[in-house]
Amino acid sequence: MASASTNDIEFRSVTKNYGSVTAVTDINLNVPKGAFLALLGPSGCGKTTCLRMIGGFEQPSDGTVLIDGREMNGVPAYRRPVNMVFQHYALFPHFNVEQNVAYGLRQMRPKIAAAEINRRVGEALEMVRLGGFAKRRIHEMSGGQQQRVALARAIVNRPSVLLLDEPLAALDKKLRSAMQIELQTLQRELGITFVLVTHDQEEALSMADIVCVMSAGRIRQLGSPQEVYDRPADLFVADFVGKTNRVDATVETDGRTLRLGDGSALPVSAGQGVLSGQAIVAIRPEAIRLTRVQAGDGASFKGTVTHRIFLGSSAEYAVAVPGLGDFLVTADRRDSQSDLVEPGETVFLGFDPAGAHVFPASNAA
Ligand SMILES: Nc1ncnc2c1ncn2[C@@H]1O[C@H](COP(=O)(O)OP(=O)(O)O)[C@@H](O)[C@H]1O
Ligand SMILES: [Mg+2]
Repeated sequence: MASASTNDIEFRSVTKNYGSVTAVTDINLNVPKGAFLALLGPSGCGKTTCLRMIGGFEQPSDGTVLIDGREMNGVPAYRRPVNMVFQHYALFPHFNVEQNVAYGLRQMRPKIAAAEINRRVGEALEMVRLGGFAKRRIHEMSGGQQQRVALARAIVNRPSVLLLDEPLAALDKKLRSAMQIELQTLQRELGITFVLVTHDQEEALSMADIVCVMSAGRIRQLGSPQEVYDRPADLFVADFVGKTNRVDATVETDGRTLRLGDGSALPVSAGQGVLSGQAIVAIRPEAIRLTRVQAGDGASFKGTVTHRIFLGSSAEYAVAVPGLGDFLVTADRRDSQSDLVEPGETVFLGFDPAGAHVFPASNAA
């Protein structure tokens, strides 16, 4: 019977213990049909555990995982409408590409006709842009090509959900970028739900339409890439998803003024949360303007450039500001009004206080 659920995957208060180790705690999550979800977080935060519970390789200690509205408790992996590409994908080295991709289909009972298998394998190889490689041996393929064979092997079964555990981690940077685009295109073409596990924030932001930021077995924030980057829920997210400058501050009793360590004051904007007492102001490196002369508007601090990292299209500066500490500033060279600034130079840092985030200091990780 067809399900009316619009959620492909749902976690209801899911906790998983391995003996005395609690890997994930009280996870609640809805993944709509056809979404591209990234589980993002540092190593050991419970990403793979979540993926394995969807795949049926682990069972929750508490709570329920549903796929397409059906409770999966006790449903074995091979009965789930899900395929998984593992972090260490194991291809059969003595098979060629086509045989690797066809393997799962050949095991199916009732049997699938040979012509049908050939057609579907050909289709899957086309999708991962390996149309001409059917007869190649695995050891004659590059790492990126092998990864695509693993993908073809997973999509040939036409799962309604594809689970990907750090599928690009072994690739070099250039190939990884190319594969990120291909995976995203593939997901749109197939229209199936993808759940990607990654510790790489760039990868999560560039590929997914929903990012689930995790730490220590819990969800910290769930939102679009833009939401988690522009409106981080807490300091952990602000730090983990992108770079951030932290400045210690005190919210004055009027609730509207932030007093910084150098004695200067910033307005607390509406929407930044009313709080009082010790706070931390988080500012993105690209939200800060670095100039040789003091700008007229917004907050401005005088400092000295201590380091410069040249990145081609942009440059990163470390700037020491007396009373406030070290700042990281990214300057897009297209926008920058001055040439590259040299270490040792005196500069002014300006930013719009409304673009900064204010968190309670107790929130500091
Ligand atoms: N089979 C297992 N037995 C015991 N502890 C495990 C097992 N698998 C994972 N863990 C622990 O659970 C936590 C989460 O692991 P994992 O889900 O693999 O994290 P991630 O994929 O985010 O790196 C870690 O502390 C890890 O050591
Ligand atoms: Mg993992």
